[in-house]
Order: sequence, then structure tokens, then C-alpha cells
Amino acid sequence: MSSLYDTLGGDAAVNAAVDIFYRRVLADSYVKRFFEGVDMERQAGKQKAFLTMAFGGPNNYTGKDMREGHRHLVKNMGLDDSHFEHILAHLRSTLAELGVGEDLIQQVIDIAESTRNDVLDK
Ligand code: HEM
Repeated sequence: MSSLYDTLGGDAAVNAAVDIFYRRVLADSYVKRFFEGVDMERQAGKQKAFLTMAFGGPNNYTGKDMREGHRHLVKNMGLDDSHFEHILAHLRSTLAELGVGEDLIQQVIDIAESTRNDVLDK
């Protein structure tokens, strides 16, 4: 059985989604401040890692990495559930814009949702 990542189109689908997702996140005044200090190359890498992970594809990230990678944002910048909701909404609208069906979108959202407690250091 092929993975969700393969079903969505693998690496090509991730690359197509990165541009749209990135644009949506940085245009959102409620969350863009979190990304302002991060350099462009790391940002692109982050977006790709984020989407590969959300697509259920190959990645080297663990809960521990997610917790440690976002802890400074929770501690110093007040990252919370409300910001997480915005990111989920951008993920959803990015996939809808790419013509991904509702069933697959929901599977992607479920994977992203599964990282919530780690990302928010709960
Ligand atoms: C859906 C859950 C999330 C996932 C799967 C995720 C994934 C990731 C990954 C994989 C990285 C590390 C990239 C790297 O260093 O190579 C990262 C870093 C980062 N994430 Fe997330 N993320 C999530 C939620 C969020 C939210 C809600 C925000 C803010 C609104 C956010 C903001 C950031 C920032 C600013 C960095 C870079 C931190 C730094 O380098 O100082 N993330 N994320």
C-alpha cells in the first residue's frame, strides 16, 4: 500500500505546496512574527520539512525534535493553540488550492494535529 506522501505526489507535491504555504503563512499578520528572525534558507528548509512531515513522508524529526525546535517560541514569543490553528488553516487552504481532495486533506491535518502537544511543549 502506498503512503499518503506518495498518494499526494511525493517530493514534487511537497515542492508545489511549499511556495503556496509559505506565502500564506508570511501574509498572515497573526503568525508572521514567529518567522521573522529565521533566515530565508532555513525558512525554505523548514517549510519543506514541515510539509514532508505533514504528508507522512520520510523525515528525521521526532517528538523530541518538535518539542525542542519550538520551545523557544513557546517560552519567549507566546506560541500557543491559537497560532497552531492558523498554521493548520494555511495547510488546509494550501492543499485545497492544489486540488487535493477532502479525505486526503483530513489525513494531512490529522498528522499535523498529532504534533500539537510536542510543538506547544505541553
Ligand atoms: C503543525 C505542526 C508543526 C510542524 C510539523 C512543524 C515543523 C517544524 C520543523 C520540522 C521545524 C524544524 C526545521 C529545521 O530546523 O530544520 C520547525 C521549526 C520552526 N517552526 Fe514549526 N512546525 C509546526 C508548527 C509551528 C507553528 C504553529 C509555528 C508558529 C506559528 C511554527 C514556527 C516555526 C519556526 C519559527 C521554526 C524555526 C525556529 C528557529 O529556527 O528558530 N511551527 N517546525
